[in-house]
Amino acid sequence: MTTNETMIGRADVNDVDAILAISNHDVDAVVHAVRSNSDAIFTWDYERTRQALSKLYEKAKTSQWNANDLAWDTEVDQLSVIEANRAQNRMIFEGHDLKGTPVESWGEDEWTQHAIEAQNWTLSQFMHGEQGALICTAQIVETVPWIDAKYYAATQVMDEARHVEVFARYLDTKLSGHYPINAHLKMLLDDIIADNRWDMTYLGMQIMVEGLALASFGFMHQMTTEPLLKQLLRYVMSDEARHVAFGVISLQEFYSQLTAAEIRERQEFAFEAAVRMRDRFLQQEVWEKLGVDVREMVDVTLNAPDRPIFQALLFSKIVPNCKKLGLLDAADGWLRHRFEELQVIQFEDWVDTSEEYTALDEVAKDRATAA
Ligand SMILES: [Fe+2]
Ligand SMILES: [Fe+2]
Repeated sequence: MTTNETMIGRADVNDVDAILAISNHDVDAVVHAVRSNSDAIFTWDYERTRQALSKLYEKAKTSQWNANDLAWDTEVDQLSVIEANRAQNRMIFEGHDLKGTPVESWGEDEWTQHAIEAQNWTLSQFMHGEQGALICTAQIVETVPWIDAKYYAATQVMDEARHVEVFARYLDTKLSGHYPINAHLKMLLDDIIADNRWDMTYLGMQIMVEGLALASFGFMHQMTTEPLLKQLLRYVMSDEARHVAFGVISLQEFYSQLTAAEIRERQEFAFEAAVRMRDRFLQQEVWEKLGVDVREMVDVTLNAPDRPIFQALLFSKIVPNCKKLGLLDAADGWLRHRFEELQVIQFEDWVDTSEEYTALDEVAKDRATAA
């Protein structure tokens, strides 16, 4: 039986020292190389047999948009935006007794500085994650054996280039600093890229990373009062919904041919990815930058009363999609039990993303309004 140690490198999911032992050692390097172990696959079967993928490909071709068309001339005063956001939304530590913690004496100014850093950090991680998606999807073009999937994945490569472009531009022109990639996100992306089984790229990227991105962009889209960021996020979300659907449609077909042992490996990979993504949201680099004790603050964050709600919302797309793929209940509900421990199982019957992309297509809606 596989243990937590072999899957995630620690017995207790909430072991703070083990979480912090993972750190990004080459923050000053300009490039990072990951060895890919996959074969590039040609197919001589050009028959278009996969209707759902074909439909998604047609949709992607007509839903392309140009990053230059967003309202980049919008004035963004980060400080006023943060104040407006804080006036409208409940924050994670609100109502939490911080006595005895490193931030017990913090007043308005410190919390404002924290919010600024947290925003720079969050958008930086979105940008790095988008580059991960760009690389993974280019890899899928090479490794997937089906022609319809190669066609679709090629459109996603273009989508992801545009996403990296918009987040980089927003960070450079509207915010006040970049962060290097979070250690846990980096570890996960490296694992996904290095795996030689083509379907694992899909599971790691399209189902787990992009499922979380879709929920997280939706959350920020609702929270922010800044119109350019709102517009940027809803355009990116239109694309992301197709990407997650691409994962669900492809893996549903592929998983139907796998053995129980092979499905169990996919369950374990999904669990590992879920833990890495949960760990990345602890924002350890922000506390470090603000000069407070990182270990204590990660501990406080893990135990914040509102944290299970924030964390669970981020998993609102992943859990139903894993259920649709049969990953929750295979092997006597192995992944269901893990998701119960992470307190995210309540989303299992929320809408899955295989069809949701039409509803989320803001680009088509805007074009219909303009016409
Ligand atoms: Fe993306
Ligand atoms: Fe994507």
